[in-house]
Amino acid sequence: MSARILQQIIPSIATSDGAGVRLRRSIGQSQMLRVDPFLMLDEFSSINADDYIAGFPNHPHRGFETVTYILDGHMLHEDHLGNRGDLKSGGAQWMTAGRGIIHSEMPQQVSGRMRGFQLWVNLPAKEKMKPAGYQDVQAEEIPVFKLADGGYVKVISGTANFDEQDIKGPIQGISADVLMLDIHLPAGAYFEQVLPDGHNAFIYTFEGDLLVGPEDNQRPLATQSAGVLSNGDALALKAGEQGAAFLLLVGRPLKEPIVQYGPFVMNTREEIEQAIWDYNNGRLV
Ligand code: FE2
Repeated sequence: MSARILQQIIPSIATSDGAGVRLRRSIGQSQMLRVDPFLMLDEFSSINADDYIAGFPNHPHRGFETVTYILDGHMLHEDHLGNRGDLKSGGAQWMTAGRGIIHSEMPQQVSGRMRGFQLWVNLPAKEKMKPAGYQDVQAEEIPVFKLADGGYVKVISGTANFDEQDIKGPIQGISADVLMLDIHLPAGAYFEQVLPDGHNAFIYTFEGDLLVGPEDNQRPLATQSAGVLSNGDALALKAGEQGAAFLLLVGRPLKEPIVQYGPFVMNTREEIEQAIWDYNNGRLV
C-alpha cells in the first residue's frame, strides 16, 4: 500500500455567484486550481437570507456534470426538460449538462440557515454533447455508515468500502467515476479508506480541522480549505481537537485540454464559441 499525503492546500475564498449568492470557492478559484476531473467546489453557508435569497435564476450549462448537496435548507431546481427537484436538508442532485441545460436553483425559504455544496465535474470530450440528464436524491436514500469511534460517513456518489463491506451511494454513473463522501469524526478520531491508485482526490473541511496522511507524515488541514492528495492507494487521517466534518472527493482524471467560459466547459476555443452561438440562437438545448 502506498500512502496518500497532503500535497497542496487551497484555502477557500469568499466570492459570489448567481444573482448574488455569497459563497466560498476552493477548487476552481482559478484555472490553475482545478483537480482533474473536478472543475470547481463551492460551499454556501449562511443564516442571513440576504446572502442566498437571490438564488440562481435561469442560466445555461454545457460540457460537464454537477452534484449539489444540501446540508441545511430548501432549494428548488427547475430545468428546460421539465424536471422539478425539491432539495431539502441532507438531499442531493446530480445533473449532467451534456450538450446543454437551462435551469434555475432558487431558495424556497426566506429565513434560516442555508448550507451546502456545489461540485462541478468535467465530462470527457466524447460525452460533452450527450443529452442532458437530471437525478434527484432524497436524504433517506443516502446510506450512512457508522464508524467504530462515533463518527459516521454518508456515501453520496460511488462506492466506499468499510470493514470489507461495499457501501453504494445513490449516485452511480458520473462519467469520471466520482466517489463523494461526507465524513464526520469526533475529536482525535482516525479515518482510513482504500482509494483507486491513479484517481485524483481532495478533501474539503467544512467544520474543524484534520491531520492528513500516514502517522509519519501528517500535515494539518485547516477548516474551509481544500487539501489535494498525492497519488497512492491508501488514505489515512485524524480529526483535530474539535472533531471534523469534511467531504472526500475522488475521481478519474480525464487528462484533456479544458477551455472554460463561465457556464460552458469544452476542450477547444471553437467549441466555446459554438456554445455561445448556440445559446444566443436558442440552439443550446
Ligand atoms: Fe447551474
